[in-house]
Amino acid sequence: MGLLIKGGEIVTADSRTRGDVYIENEIITQIGRDLTAPPTAEVIDASGKLVFPGFIDPHVHIHLPFMATYAKDTHATASVAALIGGTTTFIEMCCPSRNEDALEGYHLWKQKAEGNSACDYAFHMAVARYDARTEAQLREIVRDGTASFKIFLAYKNFFGVTDEEMFHTLKLAAELGVITTAHCENAELVGQLQQLLLAEGKTGPEWHEPSRPEAVEAEGTSRFGTFLEQTGAAGYVVHLSSAPALRAAVDAKLRGVRLYIESVLPHFLLDKSYAERAGIEGMKYVMSPPLRDKRNQANLWSALRAGLIDTVGTDHCPFDTGQKLLGKDNFTQIPNGIPGIEDRVNLMYTYGVTRGELDIHRFVDALSTRPAKLFGLFPRKGAVAVGSDADLVVYDTDFRGTISAAAQHTNNDYNGFEGFAIKGRPSHVTVRGKVQVRDGVFVGEPGGGRMLRREPQYGAREVAHAG
Ligand code: URP
Ligand code: ZN
Ligand code: ZN
Repeated sequence: MGLLIKGGEIVTADSRTRGDVYIENEIITQIGRDLTAPPTAEVIDASGKLVFPGFIDPHVHIHLPFMATYAKDTHATASVAALIGGTTTFIEMCCPSRNEDALEGYHLWKQKAEGNSACDYAFHMAVARYDARTEAQLREIVRDGTASFKIFLAYKNFFGVTDEEMFHTLKLAAELGVITTAHCENAELVGQLQQLLLAEGKTGPEWHEPSRPEAVEAEGTSRFGTFLEQTGAAGYVVHLSSAPALRAAVDAKLRGVRLYIESVLPHFLLDKSYAERAGIEGMKYVMSPPLRDKRNQANLWSALRAGLIDTVGTDHCPFDTGQKLLGKDNFTQIPNGIPGIEDRVNLMYTYGVTRGELDIHRFVDALSTRPAKLFGLFPRKGAVAVGSDADLVVYDTDFRGTISAAAQHTNNDYNGFEGFAIKGRPSHVTVRGKVQVRDGVFVGEPGGGRMLRREPQYGAREVAHAG
């Protein structure tokens, strides 16, 4: 049975046209005016609404053993939350720790997702240790279609890699043509600053930011850029939060380093005053890199507008208030993370597009098309084009609502954006032509999502070494 989405305004990263989209066998087969559909086809009336390509969240955590606990979502809850919010594909960080076997971890993460996700998904493979066995496993994982790595410069002795391990990971990435995503904070400085603050009796969540100041993120970002330069690898800074780190990343871009920049929803809309609230209210806002001084936000919006920040993800990582309280006497034990997968599209549309901070095409680009291009999913995903997967979001710009934990689908007892007004929401969402959300309600197939296998696309660059 076909599906006709009729009379909407189709908005992509580079075009805006009124028209109809016809879908058969999971893909878009026709785009045009006044298309006719066979009597058996379903018709969605999109008049007065926008039609976007399905949004892609390039950075989420679902299964995540971390800081003595587990992130709260399952693939079932996170994927329904994603779809309600217009995200039709996510890329999850597959994160076995340093003491675990990489390949076993990869199989575990795949098994957790398989048959449980309502939307399509892929993985970034974390490299938490580098040795001969891990190297062989990484080659196998890339052959299996996971064509991006993840390294942490932070979280020493858990997820974190040494500089030597980063070098070898990037050499391998360059050889295999995969891109490496990186959490850029100097692990040693974070650990030392945490100890100094605790020794002074500074134990509350308001000390999380001072323990990992902007300079610590800028140093990590700059070092990552230098290692990319010296290995010829391609890289992607995740969840960039501050102006000094932005300058370090842009400096690398200007030197010709293939370095792409992601920032995430919380850093555009929240600032460190949220984490300075007393007790549990502050703990809810502990994430890394931390929420920053508000003055950084103008730089992030400008860089996003200009395309220097390539993508906007969420770093979705829900811990509930009970879990956050693990760190009530010591901020270093507050599980780091905040949910966002359900709200990214609506909040970036409301506070970016409707406020004039962000052109609508750049919005589509940063939240859909560019993640698809950078991570080997384009034009299957991230496009409204004949031959692309029929992942579409019919967007109701007249909707008015308020973010609230009581109404959310992610498995958490709070929402960091509680009370934020939204202007717009997806009315209908399709994944490969199946209607998963109708009038804002999930009506889909709980386990219908597929793992997306990707090809390496970043051939190694020649590196000139003096000598
Ligand atoms: O605080 C955060 N970001 N939690 C998730 C783990 C990570 O660093 O991405
Ligand atoms: Zn991180
Ligand atoms: Zn993350």
